[in-house]
Amino acid sequence: MQPILKIFVPVLASIVAYYLFRTIRWGLSRIPSPLSLPGPPNPGWFFGHQKEIWSKSTPLGEPTLMDEWHEMYGPTFKAGGFFGGYRIYSMDIKVVQHIMRNDDIYSKPPVMRNLLNMILGEGTGVIVAEGAQHRLQRKAMNPAFGPPQIREFTKTFFDKSLEMRDIWKAQIATEGVGEIDPVEWLSKVTVDIIGLTGFNYHLDALNDGQTNALNEAFKTMFHSNGWDSPWMPLIAALPKSIQSIIKTLALACGVDTTMKSSVDCIQRSCRQLLMENKAQLAATGEKDIGSGSRNLLSLLLKSNMSSDTPAHARMSDADVMAQIPTFLIAGHDTTSLATNWALLELSLHQDIQAKLQEELLSVPTATPSMDELNGLPLLDGFVRETLRLHSPITTLGRIATQDDIIPLAHPFTDRDGTVHDKLPVRKGQLIHITLHQVNTDKLLWGPHADEFRPDRWLNLPDSARTIPGAYSNTLSFWGGSHGCMGWRFTSIEMKVLIFVLLRSFHFELAVQKDELMVLKMASIWQRPSLKSEPLQTRLPLVVKLLKNE
Ligand code: HEM
Repeated sequence: MQPILKIFVPVLASIVAYYLFRTIRWGLSRIPSPLSLPGPPNPGWFFGHQKEIWSKSTPLGEPTLMDEWHEMYGPTFKAGGFFGGYRIYSMDIKVVQHIMRNDDIYSKPPVMRNLLNMILGEGTGVIVAEGAQHRLQRKAMNPAFGPPQIREFTKTFFDKSLEMRDIWKAQIATEGVGEIDPVEWLSKVTVDIIGLTGFNYHLDALNDGQTNALNEAFKTMFHSNGWDSPWMPLIAALPKSIQSIIKTLALACGVDTTMKSSVDCIQRSCRQLLMENKAQLAATGEKDIGSGSRNLLSLLLKSNMSSDTPAHARMSDADVMAQIPTFLIAGHDTTSLATNWALLELSLHQDIQAKLQEELLSVPTATPSMDELNGLPLLDGFVRETLRLHSPITTLGRIATQDDIIPLAHPFTDRDGTVHDKLPVRKGQLIHITLHQVNTDKLLWGPHADEFRPDRWLNLPDSARTIPGAYSNTLSFWGGSHGCMGWRFTSIEMKVLIFVLLRSFHFELAVQKDELMVLKMASIWQRPSLKSEPLQTRLPLVVKLLKNE
């Protein structure tokens, strides 16, 4: 080769390669990739950001980690997942609508399924079922959550709430002014309520003297220290085979024995409850089993065993059994946490407490019906506002089961300055909807979105009405075919609890406001807590008996 060519060819090749690289890079930048989403720098390959997302406390009223990231990176961003992966986080209303409508594409992530399956046993609870099996289960269970049934359950809500009120009254009578932390009490009363309305079972949590095996097993399960450890979701994210090896090793070392015996106890109790309810139904034939003894499980069994239900549309015994812990898991801590937040807001806003108390004390009966409770406008707005601002569940996870393109209401700008109004996702991509941020989005709710204002429910902005939630245009209960089945149950249960408590007591904070923290736990729960005990759910209140009591 000529000496001049020896220089010219490599130079030309380099120029061509450079422009080819730029053209490919430009071409690729036209195709948006979630990788080009903005987001915080990944702190490490192993945990990514999941450790800080899983459990963290923030002072009440101050921005949480998610608030800060949304503020910095926009409504849709990426953050580090386990083992070098990444997850998408979004509060974009079009992403919400798209994922809610396409639940055949977006299913619950295996992590959540694996955690729940540890408790549900062999069967599939409605909370983890998908596709045809999920549709079948929802159809069989829907009647149990309809207005006639909740109307009937209202009596049990009152019985148990009044029982708790009397325990508080007795405590105040002996101690003068009562300093009560409602956290444990509300947990007990809601456990008792779900036991009775769910499967006609007396869990007796309010009555500490009588210990109850199922109640103890659930306490062990849910109050185990494991839940605030980031190892929990990490283990649940591993393949089943590796999980079994870890479980066997843990058992061999004696680490997991309390958890294992709790799961065994839950399974045994569920089997017994199923048999008892079946026997009772068989004894009464297919006729109505009579008001008072109707419960979520018996109604489900009735619809499942009915001669009108063809064999292929019936649920297996294992699946029916799996609904028992499902009700307990889904329906207990959620309502109790929301009611804790309600009492906190009453203590912080004495004016709201006074007005609400006046409305409730004007009701001529101590045990109004569901319809009478729904006719109280201040109580209604108060419960909706509590559930909007303090949804116990703050984030919802989904996994894409196929490649898809998600439309965005708020386009994002990638590293190269290109603006994208769509987000393609690959099969297997994890996406989290940040429910709390949608519930407090100023663009949807107006400039005072993060303030507690129950009267906003008298005149909602049109933008808030675009939120496709199961309850009150909030995302607290999600929506669509996987939306919460218990929203009506919870809203009436909360109304009864607040009705009973506010007609007897006055609430104030027993600590300074700046002592209060919000504990984000297991990546989804939002709990009240204290600076001095940031990993505990705590709410010390001064509870005074009203003069007329
Ligand atoms: C404040 C109280 C509650 C809140 C904030 C709440 C919230 C939610 C949310 C966000 C989901 C969707 C979870 C997901 O798809 O990943 C859900 C599902 C569910 N909830 Fe609730 N819930 C509450 C109370 C209850 C109660 C009292 C019950 C039953 C008695 C219940 C039963 C269910 C069931 C069965 C599902 C699964 C629905 C399905 O996948 O088809 N929930 N809940």
